[in-house]
Amino acid sequence: MTQPIIILGAGIAGLWTALHAAPRRVILLTGARLGEGSSTGWAQGGVAAALGDDDRPDLHASDTIEAGAGLVDKAAAQLLAEAGPQEIKDLLALGAPFEKSGDAWALSREAAHSRARVARVKGDQAGAGILAALIRAVRLADHIDIREGWRGEALLPARDGGCAGVLARDPAGQLHRIEAADTVLATGSLGGLYAVTTTPWTSQGQALAMAAALGATIRDPEFVQFHPTAIDIGRDPAPLATEALRGEGATLIDGEGRRFMVDPHPLAELAPRDVVARCVHSQIQLGRGAFLDAREAVGEAFPERFPAVFAACKSAGIDPRITAIPVAPAAHYHMGGVATDLDGFTGVSGLWAVGECAANGLHGANRLASNSLLDGLVFGRRAADKLTQNSPRRQVKALHAEPAPQLPVEALQRLRQAMSADAGVVRDRYGLTRLLATLNRLEAEHGAAHPLVAARFVVSAALSRNESRGGHYRSDFPKADRTGIPTYLTLDQVKPDLPVLDAAE
Ligand code: SIN
Repeated sequence: MTQPIIILGAGIAGLWTALHAAPRRVILLTGARLGEGSSTGWAQGGVAAALGDDDRPDLHASDTIEAGAGLVDKAAAQLLAEAGPQEIKDLLALGAPFEKSGDAWALSREAAHSRARVARVKGDQAGAGILAALIRAVRLADHIDIREGWRGEALLPARDGGCAGVLARDPAGQLHRIEAADTVLATGSLGGLYAVTTTPWTSQGQALAMAAALGATIRDPEFVQFHPTAIDIGRDPAPLATEALRGEGATLIDGEGRRFMVDPHPLAELAPRDVVARCVHSQIQLGRGAFLDAREAVGEAFPERFPAVFAACKSAGIDPRITAIPVAPAAHYHMGGVATDLDGFTGVSGLWAVGECAANGLHGANRLASNSLLDGLVFGRRAADKLTQNSPRRQVKALHAEPAPQLPVEALQRLRQAMSADAGVVRDRYGLTRLLATLNRLEAEHGAAHPLVAARFVVSAALSRNESRGGHYRSDFPKADRTGIPTYLTLDQVKPDLPVLDAAE
């Protein structure tokens, strides 16, 4: 009998990997109920792929490379762009209700794409529509054993030095050691480390902490993408106003009604996401406010064309047909993650990573809009192919593992506020050093909880990168170095070694 694969996480990458891993048996662990707790279901824009008559995979690859600001692995971008159209056709065949008119795909234009290239579902419902189709398929798949409400606490070290499975907590709070020759991390984002995020707040970089504890390398953790137009209505997480709105012609204005993206960039509202996020941040810092004005561009069609954004606005008493939408930047996507090759292998025997928690260099310093769902599909399938080709000969023997300490809610909120203040859209040495001191204090009080370990990777890398590039902007080093070099860090390199500073120092 073939040995099972454990997959931790049930967003697009985890589910697509699980579906393609047959005939191997998959144990799919998801901390929430299927369909909840993953960013996938909240994705609005859609999936980027060269599906239009005027488009080609090499154009998609070159936009991906350009957006990534000198740190994109070209082979990864080419693989993504070439495999993209077929992945979307396969999702359509599975029942994901992409919009089409006859043979032609309805495609949206988003920032930094040279073509309209984003396949969408019912306006802004891409994530929800795709996730529903994937969930139907995994529930019908005989090879997948779904365990809802099971959280990964730690990876089990193997006697041979690799990974031998997962220490997991069931919904009743009991710990279980689940041994497996192969474990795939698909736990998504770390947006929940920030006070303002568009991701589930439970996404706190768990994969980084667990993989690093087993010796895996973390790549480019300083590169966090801030979406410029989260709807600023005091909700946690913050609902998104999709970039497709700007693709339709919606403009960004200050409290006086002045457009503020026209001067800073020739592409104005469709400038790369990091540029727009910094301009929105600066308007807010200057007290001018930032608003997305879709009154003319979308107007009366809003409820039908962008139902999720419309519902979020209405929940706060805003009618976007009549009023501009208040917006703020929010942590949205992590370009960094557990370092992998192009098949999701981490370099630690038996340990794989796919989707947002993985980093193979595809997104570089700044992810191109709507490339994330496609990343989960293309590289999830590649990992599954590899896992099924190499039927495991490895006999694992798991050693002891302890569950990670939990961070109390009050400490988590302190961490989130500090991350937004000092490792957010604009960073500098003073703030990052103060933030490291806060992490040291929290770790001294509560132990090396997963969110603290993940935050430490982001902050240490941000402190070491004395330049600005993509999503990482240092006000004390505002220019990019001539050559971009990726960051690779292990746990030993980021462990606390600084004295605990007084915040006033
Ligand atoms: C959006 O719809 O604006 C977000 C799409 C993405 O993050 O790729």
